Amino acid sequence: MKFPIFLSLSLLLGAAQFKPMDFSALPAKVPEIDKKLFEMHFTLYRGYVAQVNFLQSMLDDLSLEGAKNQFIFASIKRQYGFEYDGMRLHELYFENLGGKNSYLGIGVVAKRIAQNFGSYDTWKQHMIQTAMTRGTGWAILYFNRMTGAMTNAFIEGHDIGLLASECALVIIDLWEHAYITQFGLDRKKYVEIVIDNIDWKVVETRFNRPCGLQSAGMDPASPKGGTFGGPGSNNL
Ligand SMILES: [Fe+2]
Repeated sequence: MKFPIFLSLSLLLGAAQFKPMDFSALPAKVPEIDKKLFEMHFTLYRGYVAQVNFLQSMLDDLSLEGAKNQFIFASIKRQYGFEYDGMRLHELYFENLGGKNSYLGIGVVAKRIAQNFGSYDTWKQHMIQTAMTRGTGWAILYFNRMTGAMTNAFIEGHDIGLLASECALVIIDLWEHAYITQFGLDRKKYVEIVIDNIDWKVVETRFNRPCGLQSAGMDPASPKGGTFGGPGSNNL
């Protein structure tokens, strides 16, 4: 049985929905990026959260019987990963900003960067080069817990090239909406500003947490995962 979205069964049953995280304090911490650009970006991020909740409510309400429903179900499943990654990558990106010149060369992450890249400056050069990959997406510094290796990766869109099971430590948004209204086509300048404003305390915390519990405030003991409730899923 299908319900229009405003009478969604999952909503009527009170299934948990993702809630947008509050990053309103961020513009004051990173004055090099226009407040207006940040606010536009926050609005765009909230759109991803709404879209994930919408897709989840459709999945929860969709009967699994019938070929037509299977086609719709599969289509939503394909889209879900794109929207979900768009939501979470934005949260990880905003969360790892706000620490101007906070890299002190100490701690486990600094040690791993030195082991894997030789120095912070060399890593930064690699990261900038990765971020200059043509196309819209993300640059991510990954740590592989099995091998100890670090990798700078380019993710196209939100989901093509994501490295399964590796831990995302530093996330940089490379979609044009993240910089073009202020920096024009000068992506490199924007990327350098972002790198210089990475909050390395956040990165260190991510490194020390079990993989998959990477967001600040997340409680490993909570079945919902932390500050925002995961969707109550019937079909996932
Ligand atoms: Fe973005």
